[in-house]
Amino acid sequence: TSLQEFDLIFFGGTGDLAMRKLLPALYNRFRDSQHTQGWRIIGVARQDMSRDDYLNLVNEHCRQFIPHGEFDAVAWTAFTAHLEYLKLDGLLADDYAELARRLQHSTDRVRVFYLSTAASLFAQICQNLSAAGLVTPQTRVVLEKPLGRDRASSFEINEAVGKIFEERQIFRIDHYLGKETVQNLIALRFGNSIFEPLWRRSNIQDVQITIAETVGVEGRGEYYDRYGALRDMVQNHLLQLLCILAMEPPSSIDPDAVRDEKLKVLRALKPITMDAIKTKTVRGQYRAGAIDGKAVPGYLNEDGIPADSSTETFVAIKAELENWRWSGVPFYLRTGKRMQERVAEIVINFRPVPHAILPVSASEGNRLVIRLQPDEEVMLYLMVKVPGAEMKVRPVDLNLDFKQEFKTRQWDAYERLLMDAILGKLTLFMRRDELDAAWRWIDPIRDGWDALGEPPKGYAAGTWGPTAASTLITRDGFTWREDGYQ
Ligand code: BG6
Repeated sequence: TSLQEFDLIFFGGTGDLAMRKLLPALYNRFRDSQHTQGWRIIGVARQDMSRDDYLNLVNEHCRQFIPHGEFDAVAWTAFTAHLEYLKLDGLLADDYAELARRLQHSTDRVRVFYLSTAASLFAQICQNLSAAGLVTPQTRVVLEKPLGRDRASSFEINEAVGKIFEERQIFRIDHYLGKETVQNLIALRFGNSIFEPLWRRSNIQDVQITIAETVGVEGRGEYYDRYGALRDMVQNHLLQLLCILAMEPPSSIDPDAVRDEKLKVLRALKPITMDAIKTKTVRGQYRAGAIDGKAVPGYLNEDGIPADSSTETFVAIKAELENWRWSGVPFYLRTGKRMQERVAEIVINFRPVPHAILPVSASEGNRLVIRLQPDEEVMLYLMVKVPGAEMKVRPVDLNLDFKQEFKTRQWDAYERLLMDAILGKLTLFMRRDELDAAWRWIDPIRDGWDALGEPPKGYAAGTWGPTAASTLITRDGFTWREDGYQ
């Protein structure tokens, strides 16, 4: 399918996200001929450079993020012919005159301003865009996370952006929602009839959502140290996965039908009060250790990190939902940097059989694993008999490996989300009230940690986090998946 014409303007056009994700995503869509003509990308940043300089930068920097098999020199050259560069300081109203000049002949095209800058600049940039007459009815703005540091700052940003753009024009991005497996979670739940009757407290014992990374702070120390894992990962990615998993079936796939249901999940999250902060949350920080046999430094020795930083690089939380479907089912959330493996997955543990006539241990029940990373897989564990004379059973998985099954290249999350923003499809973007509800649950956790005044618990790089994270779950009689059978 070919797209309508559009102008895409990247604020932060020389930044890490543009080079690593956004431009490669657009290149891949271009290569698939999803958009062939009548469009351009204008990279905007403060550096003084010519278009040629920008192309050189893109050629050197961005190209390395395009896997070898996806690189096609002819398509790449044709793609970069659509790139422009503009030196602009987002905070200076006068700088927008040149942008207005560049856009003056395409006022009825779709126009997307992608703000991949610090969120503290969003309000001013939007005001300047509006003052320069650049906000047409066909204009959309994409806002990168994290949108604020807490509920109050997020409110302020949303309020200011909301004065310039209508809600239907605002695309708050969470790239986890663009991942293929997250779409598949929706397909699994609402394209099959066999799961829905089981998808509730009567059959589900506990749920685990893990996003473990092996990377450290990767040169983003200055940003990361101000945010930490709770704001960087839990407030957005983990809670969004929880929403899709736990929401009631929406009446359609329309943006507001889905977002209304997600909002109800966020509002049903049981607040974590001060008396529960120690039993329901764990914060950790990595120390020196080894990843894949290679020594790596501790967080406090990373570039740009103050030697006395108490920022967390690991979080585990026991979340609970106060509603009929999920009352009493713990949702264990966990994320960390420098962990043993790179894995992102949702584990749904079903209740054991009510009366065991076979020798089955309590930890061995049916289990559904939805794996997002490193490979996209869905595994359903069933108890089967081990061949032989004895009646011995053990769990075996029915495994759906998407790479094997479809043998086509998987789209990167940003490919889908950028295309959706251009097409005006809001389903996979967060609505303002969702964001507010997420912060409303996150803020007291942060406040609780501050009031407690304890430093984060250390864990060696290359492990599964502080031992307290195991205690968090074993206290309830369960174990994280990596401690049980694989
Ligand atoms: C980003 C966080 O939103 O997600 C990063 O800011 C993190 O700290 C990244 O590394 C993880 O995304 P993915 O898609 O690599 O799992």
